[in-house]
Amino acid sequence: MTLKINDKYIKDFLAAEDLAGIEPSVKCAIAQVKNKNGLGNDFLGWADLPVNYDKEEFARIKVAAEKIKKSCDILVVIGIGGSYLGARAAIEFVKSPMYNEKKKDTPSVYFAGNNICSSALAELIELCEGKDVCVNVISKSGTTTEPAVAFRIFRELLEKKYGEDGAKERIFVTTDKARGTLKAFATEKGYETFVVPDDVGGRYSVLTAVGLLPIAAAGCDIDAMMAGAAAAREAYSNDTIENNDAAKYAALRNIMYRKGKTTEILVSYENAMLMMNEWWKQLYGESEGKDNMGIFPASVIFSTDLHSLGQYIQEGRRNLFETVINIEKSNDTVIIPNDPANIDGLNFLSGEELHKVNNAAMNATLLAHVDGGVPNIVLDIADRSEYSFGWLVYFFELACAISGYTLGVNPFNQPGVEAYKKNMYALLGKPGYEAEKAKLEARMSK
Ligand code: PA5
Repeated sequence: MTLKINDKYIKDFLAAEDLAGIEPSVKCAIAQVKNKNGLGNDFLGWADLPVNYDKEEFARIKVAAEKIKKSCDILVVIGIGGSYLGARAAIEFVKSPMYNEKKKDTPSVYFAGNNICSSALAELIELCEGKDVCVNVISKSGTTTEPAVAFRIFRELLEKKYGEDGAKERIFVTTDKARGTLKAFATEKGYETFVVPDDVGGRYSVLTAVGLLPIAAAGCDIDAMMAGAAAAREAYSNDTIENNDAAKYAALRNIMYRKGKTTEILVSYENAMLMMNEWWKQLYGESEGKDNMGIFPASVIFSTDLHSLGQYIQEGRRNLFETVINIEKSNDTVIIPNDPANIDGLNFLSGEELHKVNNAAMNATLLAHVDGGVPNIVLDIADRSEYSFGWLVYFFELACAISGYTLGVNPFNQPGVEAYKKNMYALLGKPGYEAEKAKLEARMSK
């Protein structure tokens, strides 16, 4: 098993009958995923994706990735939410959070269109000066404002630099197979396109072209990633909590929620998990936070955040539980040197691997937080390989669907995301929003 759940540090917070009590609901949720008869059941394509994906497109992704590798120094990936977080998480997890700064024979990968910050975009444009650039614009709907604005700017930049035909060779579009402005635009311009399958929502799409093209362009092995996801799919095919760790994680989260633990903190001791944390927050936040329900997903990197949020977690409001990702094998070995003078008193650590110290910090924190009344679920994962990434993605996606159904929500929609968009369009004077604009301006001037 690439991933193992360790429930030692949550056991004291569970009553004897808790798991048995929730099992019928969890089994029912698993059946809803398997039989595709629950809410949002037309968005369950991710469940079989590791074995049932478009092989022709997969081969085309690899060819496009090679073309990108050969023709640019910088790949700009334009997308927001589920259309960028997975790729960014994968590159940082498998390669490094410092991937762009490292010496390498693959392009640097920068992400744009995931905010509307002028400085962020201006700085990226400046960074692209004098460099060869390719763009992968990703939007399932093809209408999201943030990536659409960034794409307009980068398209102009590429067309000025390479001419319209040259730019065409450097622009790759990932969108719906038929609908949306972006699809129409790509067809008109003749850009190479990749498909976001109809039955896969944004936050479940990392193992489609959405994630795979940028991930492959960064030099990651996407075959190994799919193999990891396929192995996880197989491993979590049982419908009992005892024999299915994804179901167990979903069960434990719901038990915690019912006991008033309304915030879950995803904890890691590896900096390479930072963007994976962000991906996880979107997955669980958008899937469960609705109908006035849902666990609030937060995240930390320890030991860094033990010196910022550690105080709150140890002694603040007791509505928290933690899920700790324990990456067993570090990618790197750092040995603490001996110092004959021992002025800092650290010679008891001379010759030790830094990873061992990190492990000690993890175990010490687990015990301290449990003593402080914070239940902890531990997920032991072998390493930061592509295979492990694929496994972890599938584990979290399946657990999220089971958890959402157990909670009683539709884990595949995100109606709440529209509220700010509608107001923004109105405030910016988009045609058709005139009445709304007047109402909002009246509220703002009060
Ligand atoms: O999970 C989701 O569906 C969302 O987070 C979307 O990925 C996000 O809003 C971007 O949408 P789109 O890909 O249509 O531009």
